[in-house]
This record gives sequence, structure tokens and C-alpha cells, in this order.
Amino acid sequence: MNNSPNTSIRPITARTNSLGHLEIGGADTTVLAEQFGTPLWIMDEATIAQSANACKDGLKDSKYPDWQVLYAGKAFLCLAMCRLTEMLDLGLDVVSYGELHTAMQAGLSGESVYLHGNNKSREEIETAIANNVRIVVDCESELHLIAELAKAKNTTAKILLRVTPGVEPDTHHYIKTGQHDSKFGLALEEVTRIAKQAQTLAPSVLLLGLHAHIGSQSHDIGPYLDIVDIMADSYAELKSRGVNLTHLDVGGGLGITYTEQDKATPIYDWSRAIGKKVQESFQQRNLTLPKLLVEPGRAIVGTAGVTIYRAGNQKVLPGDLTYVSIDGGMADNPRPVTYQAKYSACVANRNENSNGKRITLVGKFCESGDVLIKNIQLNADTGDLIAVFSTGAYNYSMSSNYNRTGRPACVLVKDGVANVIIERENADDLLRQDRIPDYLRAKKARNCAV
Ligand code: LLP
Repeated sequence: MNNSPNTSIRPITARTNSLGHLEIGGADTTVLAEQFGTPLWIMDEATIAQSANACKDGLKDSKYPDWQVLYAGKAFLCLAMCRLTEMLDLGLDVVSYGELHTAMQAGLSGESVYLHGNNKSREEIETAIANNVRIVVDCESELHLIAELAKAKNTTAKILLRVTPGVEPDTHHYIKTGQHDSKFGLALEEVTRIAKQAQTLAPSVLLLGLHAHIGSQSHDIGPYLDIVDIMADSYAELKSRGVNLTHLDVGGGLGITYTEQDKATPIYDWSRAIGKKVQESFQQRNLTLPKLLVEPGRAIVGTAGVTIYRAGNQKVLPGDLTYVSIDGGMADNPRPVTYQAKYSACVANRNENSNGKRITLVGKFCESGDVLIKNIQLNADTGDLIAVFSTGAYNYSMSSNYNRTGRPACVLVKDGVANVIIERENADDLLRQDRIPDYLRAKKARNCAV
């Protein structure tokens, strides 16, 4: 599968229409910009569906008997996305009360939801227990808290233990999690002791299995295969100590293509390789095959997303440096400033001339680091619409109100129809949480908002 949705920069439905405009999901992006304003996040449902289905097909074709794909909601989550995960037969990985609440409000069944986090609150744990959500335990003290809270409700919390397998993918330091000094999970040497403890806490907790997640935006399958062997060794060791596990979660982290330099692995190849490897590794050790869970986030939604901006001021500086400012930037996409992430873009309102000028696309936020794309060949003029690709993952979910700017709207496009799934925040939305203490209500203040 070469033209996998996570390996091409643009959504699978992207094309240039007869007017020379960029079209996504059958919708003309210039019309969407007029209708919904800019910046605008566009999510292409067909790309999301194809990524999810390719991931499932890989597992099916690996002949793995029992598996589930959990979409990692931290990449992009809202009520409509939760509904989409159910429609696509995906489970969901959540990592906060807000994500859990969104999943429950969207009507998802708790059984397909897994709660992660290295410092879960009582509220998060209680809500998970009340909704039969599986909990991925990060440390020993948390195991005891979960047992206590489940006992108080006279119920059983179904748990997995997160381990740090000591495997590092080749990715940015900030998004590695599998190494020994990670803030996440239990050291491998601790697992047997904690698993035995979990057994003694029955029936308040039921230990289903182990979980590992080694990092994010990784193109290499190798580290995933390595963790399978490491996990299989742990399952064998645990079995010999009387702990039989029924689930195995190998996390997410598969990369996508942001620029031509990225060599992303098709999601189908990734999940199939994992499915095959778990069978091989567990069978070699005479272990019963556990239910296999994988947790891709970025590879499901990343390339489905496109952000449309309007180009504004231009500045030509000595040394042939041209800045083109757009009407968004680090508040709607903090990845370049945070991880030096690279992106690709085109002009959406006319066919791009490949011999375009070299420009640097800068955001409008009050920060010199607010540079969206450095040194890109793009014939962008004031008033043009700029489409930035592969913005479906970790853009909305990491966005902020920096400079008191409302977040853009997000539309889901499919078969020529665009539905708003997240409304644009306006200036009044930003006032909603503000309060003025009485002593600051000066006499001169007129039409005070709150
Ligand atoms: N499972 C666990 C336990 C995770 O911590 C993560 C991501 C995933 C699954 C999904 O990883 P994915 O398939 O999306 O790579 N903000 C960073 C990425 C942080 C990822 C955190 N954990 C970025 O924008 O690159």
C-alpha cells in the first residue's frame, strides 16, 4: 500500500478544481473560507476513514485473532470526532477529564475507552470507574488509589500497567516516551512486583495486561517490533509467577508526512507488522495470544487536516528575505515553535506556480518565534488564501488563546458538504470566564461586560 493516507501530505480527496482552486472532500476551500472565515481548520472525513480502515485491515491481514484499534484522542478530539470513532469501529484513548467527558457526552461505550495519564485525578479515576472505562496505571501509588476508589463503589476497575520498555524511536526529544528516564510508566524491573500487588487487590482491580508507548512521529517499524519482544518476555515472566494477562497494548506513535523529506511508513504496514510480530513472539514463548491494542492518533487524523489562512502584510528585508504574514500562527498551530516542526503549503485560490518566490510564512502573534514555514517556494500575495497541510493532529488540541485570540472554526468535509464541528471562538467567548472584582469596577467604566 504505497498511497496510504498517512504517507501523502495532502488529504486523499485534495484536488485542484476547474477554477484552479484547492478542493477538499469535494468542497472548494475558497468557498469554505468565505463561508466560515479564516483561519479555518478543515478535516477530511474520507482521509480519516481510510487511515482507520487501513490500520484495521493491517491487523486483519496479519491474521491476528483478537484486536482493537484505539484512536488516541489527544491528537484531535471533539464530540463529532468521538462519533466518527464509533462509526469507524475504533476504541478511544483519553488522557484527561475533558477528553473523558467528551467521550461520555458523545455517547461512547466506556468499554472501548482507555484512560491514560501520569497524574490522574480522583475525579478522572472515579469517572472512569463509574463508566467502565479501562485505566492504564502509571505508577504504584495510583494503583492503590484506583483500588480504593473501586472498592468504595463496590466494583472492579479494569486496568493495564504502563511500562517503559527502554526503547527509543528516532524522533524529537520532547515526544519520546519509551526511554528509561521517561516521566511515564513503570520500570520493567518493577512490573512483576506491581502486577503481583494488583492481584492482591482483587476484586477491586482486575489486571488485564501491559501497555507501552515509545514516542510519536516515528517512521521506523523496528522499535515497535523490539517492544513486542520485550513485552512478550514480561508476559512469560509473569505467567511463570502465576499472572496471566489477557490484553497487550503497544501504543501509537506512527509518523505522517509533513514535507517531502518525511518517509512515513503506511499505517497498514505498521499494524500488520505488529500483528504478525506479536503472534510470532508470543507463540515462541508458548503464550496465549492476548487481545492486541494499538493506539495511533496522528496517523489517523494528521493528513486529514488542512488549515486555510488569509495572507496579509508582506515585508521584503535585505538578503532577499520576504515575510508573508498570515491571519493565524502559533496559537492555532504551536508545533513549529514547540518542536521546530516543518509543514508544506500551497496557495488555495489559484494554481500554484512551482517557480514561486521563496518566502517565510509568519504568524500574527506577538512572538518572533511565530514562524509557520521558513523558506518555502510559494507565490503568495496579500489577500491570497494559503493552505497548510497535515494539520489534523496536535493543532486544534494544542491550540491556545494567545494574544486573546479566539480559536478558528473546524469543519468536517465529506462529499462536497461541510459541517461545522467546532464553532469559531469570538471575542465575547473569551470574556465568558472573566470576572471583575467589585473594587475594580471604576465609576468611569461604561457598558461593563460582566
Ligand atoms: N498512546 C499514548 C500513551 C500516547 O502518549 C500517545 C501520544 C499516543 C498513543 C498517540 O501518539 P501518536 O500516534 O499520535 O503519535 N504533541 C506532540 C505529540 C505528543 C504525543 C503524546 N502522546 C506533537 O505535536 O508532535
